[in-house]
Amino acid sequence: MSFLAHRLSHVKPSPTVGVTAKAAELKAAGRDVIGLGAGEPDFDTPLSIKEAAKLAIDKGVTKYTAVAGTIELRKAIAAKFKRENGLDYKPDEITVGCGGKQVIFNALFATVEEGDEVIIPAPYWVSYPDIVSMCGGTVVPVSCHATTGFKLQAKDLEAAITPKTKWLILNSPNNPTGAAYTRAELKAITEVLVGHPHVWVMTDDMYEHLVYDEFEFTTPVQVEPRLKDRTLTINGVSKAYSMTGWRVGYGGGPKALIDAMNMIQSQSTTHTSSISQAAATAALNGPQDFIPKNAAIFKERRDLVVSMLNQAKGITCLSPEGAFYVYPSCAGAIGKTAPSGKVIGSDTDFVTELLEAEGVAVVQGVAFGLSPYFRISYATSTQALTSACERIQRFCAGLR
Ligand SMILES: Cc1ncc(COP(=O)(O)O)c(C=O)c1O
Repeated sequence: MSFLAHRLSHVKPSPTVGVTAKAAELKAAGRDVIGLGAGEPDFDTPLSIKEAAKLAIDKGVTKYTAVAGTIELRKAIAAKFKRENGLDYKPDEITVGCGGKQVIFNALFATVEEGDEVIIPAPYWVSYPDIVSMCGGTVVPVSCHATTGFKLQAKDLEAAITPKTKWLILNSPNNPTGAAYTRAELKAITEVLVGHPHVWVMTDDMYEHLVYDEFEFTTPVQVEPRLKDRTLTINGVSKAYSMTGWRVGYGGGPKALIDAMNMIQSQSTTHTSSISQAAATAALNGPQDFIPKNAAIFKERRDLVVSMLNQAKGITCLSPEGAFYVYPSCAGAIGKTAPSGKVIGSDTDFVTELLEAEGVAVVQGVAFGLSPYFRISYATSTQALTSACERIQRFCAGLR
């Protein structure tokens, strides 16, 4: 009998850990390694936000806050939902957690019981299935293929819904593909959901501000207000404001769900840091001008990476609408032999051999639920991206 709880048997360590550890090992051995695995902007937190945090410390904002988050922050979030999404959430319909991840965890922990099904379009962010499993739920992955831009199709959603379905988790722009749903695409999905009143919608809008080519971001409740009383709209400051380490995420939803989530939080982390909350309030209420500037830099990097990857033999890469990831197919490399003599049988083999041969660290698609692909994060310098893509081209050209 293991001392560890049974619920842990369903949870896998983060799949990026293996590649990151291997990359660190090679680096320590003196190899020149380029890491394209990071899920965070390479920009620093804007100065005005840091100053607000320093001021909060000086003013003694160092005590416990309300479990749901300070009223100032929840008002700033309510104003953000109104200003940017046209959504009306009152402060008591908003909860703040230690990053978007805790908000997702609290919501699933508060609602998912043994046997409940949660539909997760694949490729997905790696934490969704593990959190669902930890809560005793059953993950129902629905494959979304490159031919449809890696986006969930209404007919596939309809086919996946059963009387046991509790949630659909939507993530647009998506990690790992960068795919973002247009209003029309979301409409097709929300129409299916309107017909199934027992299914709740968890929408993870974390990458909202990272969209390119005039793409207009929309969120399910904006497209279909009838879903508001069974939707949790999740967002945060990590990606748009380069604040991953501050740990502030939030969710807006029906008060009964928010109250339940707050109850769970009150018996775990209590709340995220009071200083981080002051910083996030300043971020949401303050100047927003650096957001499009950062997005313009990300767009240039996306174009560079997509173009260079499509010149690599056996690689095909879509140009996604948003986030800072691309999800190229390595189908053309499967069955070929790497310089080490190993035959590449999977995307895991591909990323392992690429790291060994050329020192480029990326993440295998199997981790995100759709193979044979790999994820590249382009949240790094143009110089590093150019060099990494040249190495990928050389690696692919050398496969036999
Ligand atoms: C799709 C998605 N949702 C949520 C998160 C969690 O963000 P946070 O740092 O706010 O916990 C991430 C972070 O990588 C993400 O990619």
